[in-house]
Amino acid sequence: MIVPVTDEQELRSRRARSFGAQAAAYAEHRPDYPLEALRWGLPAEAAHVVDLGAGTGKLTEGLRALGLRVTAVEPDEGMRAEFGRLLPDVPVLDGTAESIPLPDASADAVVAGQAFHWFDPGPALTEIARVTRPGGTFLALWNHDDMTVPWVAEFGELTRTSISRSWRSFSGELPSHAQWEPFERSHFRHTQRRTAETLLATVATHSHMLIAPPEEREATLARLREFLARTPETAEGEFDLPLMTTAMRASRR
Ligand SMILES: C[S@@+](CC[C@H](N)C(=O)[O-])C[C@H]1O[C@@H](n2cnc3c(N)ncnc32)[C@H](O)[C@@H]1O
Repeated sequence: MIVPVTDEQELRSRRARSFGAQAAAYAEHRPDYPLEALRWGLPAEAAHVVDLGAGTGKLTEGLRALGLRVTAVEPDEGMRAEFGRLLPDVPVLDGTAESIPLPDASADAVVAGQAFHWFDPGPALTEIARVTRPGGTFLALWNHDDMTVPWVAEFGELTRTSISRSWRSFSGELPSHAQWEPFERSHFRHTQRRTAETLLATVATHSHMLIAPPEEREATLARLREFLARTPETAEGEFDLPLMTTAMRASRR
């Protein structure tokens, strides 16, 4: 039986906890992050970085490509298990943004990929400030489809379900907090090599799809499959999906 969700808080909390059951699909299909965006948000002499809400380690992989030592923090057991399978030599701790199991000033930077919008922003920024050394940074990143490309915008519209919300986690007002210098935002173009089937598999890992009623999920995927089959850019074989990475950074006072 499907219980209608009426309470927004309950809905957010269900979405925030929806990822673990699909952890392997998540690891396979979600895009990585451009290294240029990571360089933009990290302090010059970073050595130890905390990946907060690390999931299956997509962002950790980029940090390691820059030669950084990473500690991952992730509340979901299923995601931590997949992280441990994919990156067995990186420590992954059970914790949340509001309660990080690390000592004061122990990180040069804290990063959050596709996760800051799940945090309780005030308490989380206080807790992130506690574990970040003065002059260190906090960097939040979001990958999203590049809606300036017409077929991508149309695909995005067709992706919506009754659970989708119009809020955009990566736009709107920047946070402000006494322990952080003013936040700044920047955008980085990015692509991901795709086929219609792998693109649909990614859509299926989005939280609004994970908790949508099964028949709505199937109908949405069928609609998208039909769109991709009739759109010239995506009808055959592999293509580059245009992505944008939105990044938000601040320095610890
Ligand atoms: C969309 S996934 C992103 C995972 C990974 N950072 C990436 O870029 O692929 C969001 C992650 O945030 C985690 N999360 C949700 N609420 C959180 C909180 N309050 N503190 C820390 N992580 C949280 C979820 O368990 C999930 O793994």
